[in-house]
Amino acid sequence: MRISEKLAKMMNEQFGNEMGASMQYMQIAAYFDARSLPKFAAFFYAQATEEQEHAMKFLHYLLDVGAEVAIPAIEAPVYEISDTAASFQMSLDWENDVTAQIYALMDVAMDERDYAAQAFLQWFVTEQIEEVSTMETLLDVVKRVGEKNLFMIESYLTRDEEAEA
Ligand code: FEO
Repeated sequence: MRISEKLAKMMNEQFGNEMGASMQYMQIAAYFDARSLPKFAAFFYAQATEEQEHAMKFLHYLLDVGAEVAIPAIEAPVYEISDTAASFQMSLDWENDVTAQIYALMDVAMDERDYAAQAFLQWFVTEQIEEVSTMETLLDVVKRVGEKNLFMIESYLTRDEEAEA
């Protein structure tokens, strides 16, 4: 096995954290879908898929270094979402937590001079900058526009999509 027991255990836990994020985003997507806000829903469904991809990166890395995959129990997502701003605040808090989890993994990889794990984790360090920044921006927009004008943000999200196309 080309990884320490400690780091392998943490990566298995991180698989669970990423899947937990995926389920939370799925729950938020359903909240918007049920309220006829398809762009918000599409944004969070896409986030949910991305988080599954993140989880799978950990699973494949564990297999690549000959470690055992042991998927942990995953906590149910928060079901009660009071409003749109709360959903983005929850997402931002979650992404900040994930950043701290990735840094903790990187700290161990550095302590153990596990250069392969450091290279693997570097992708997540960069990814988290984008994830946190996206949620900060959207939370800011939602707060400014207000709950009554959510359709304006729907068109903001459409514009974002078109800019990326
Ligand atoms: Fe995989 Fe959004 O953290």
